[in-house]
Amino acid sequence: MEDPWKEAMDHAVAVARKAGAVIRDALQNEVKIMCKSSSVDLVTKTDQKVENLIIASVKEKFPTHSFIGEESVAAGHPCILSDNPTWIIDPVDGTTNFVHGFPFVAVSIGFAVKKELEFGVVYSCVEDKMYTGRKGKGAFCDGEKLQVSDQTDIKKSMIISELGSNRDHETVSKIFSTMQKILCIPVHGLRGSGTAATNMCLVASGAVEAFFEIGIHCWDIAAGAVIVTEAGGVLLDVDGGPFDLMSRRMVSANNKTIADRIIKEIDIFPAERDDAVKK
Ligand code: IPD
Ligand code: CA
Repeated sequence: MEDPWKEAMDHAVAVARKAGAVIRDALQNEVKIMCKSSSVDLVTKTDQKVENLIIASVKEKFPTHSFIGEESVAAGHPCILSDNPTWIIDPVDGTTNFVHGFPFVAVSIGFAVKKELEFGVVYSCVEDKMYTGRKGKGAFCDGEKLQVSDQTDIKKSMIISELGSNRDHETVSKIFSTMQKILCIPVHGLRGSGTAATNMCLVASGAVEAFFEIGIHCWDIAAGAVIVTEAGGVLLDVDGGPFDLMSRRMVSANNKTIADRIIKEIDIFPAERDDAVKK
């Protein structure tokens, strides 16, 4: 049967490549920083320009589709996942990296229909690596099939997590205490690229066994979620329950044995859902 979303996925790949070229160009110039929720939650003109570019190009081709975009939500658009075909966009994942010239920045485009993720595209634009995942059809990097690691021993594993942008003392303590417990299992190493989308592609590639975080948003992980599962990996909530895209909590891993072992060590802290109704 013909894939009903092939045209949309091809378009996502093309527009992600175009967006990545804009980001690479912008990296050559001085970046003017603006702040969103706090002094460490950064945004630049490039984030806004790239999101506008992606949405305008998709709207022209698929005028009935819906959008959830990081910068549109920051500007007050609702963050609600409906049954309508929906593009979930992070124009610049790794904005802090981008601002500092730390060379891991990705364009992340996930696509859901009836609240189910159909495909994901992550373009790691400095490395020039195009990751794709299509539900039921596998995950690829530049055309090469991706497969998660087959490691089941946590003590032989490398794990990724991130410090996020919350600087509340209690939250930071919980993040560090979780990292300390995991490091001291002991695991081979603990890493973080500064972009959730890229972290998930590293799980899918088998470079690390797992990536977990509380505080990420749906646009950081929608595309990566398809790429991880299509590479044979698993997604869970940080309490071991089912993964929920809008919950801002996720463990992605090569298998359930590794995911469950990590979950045992996570100190959970509250993060307001992406789809929480604002008063
Ligand atoms: C952030 C990155 C980072 C993760 C944060 C995200 P942004 O996205 O993905 O790795 O730790 O939770 O918000 O702000 O660079 O688009
Ligand atoms: Ca992001």
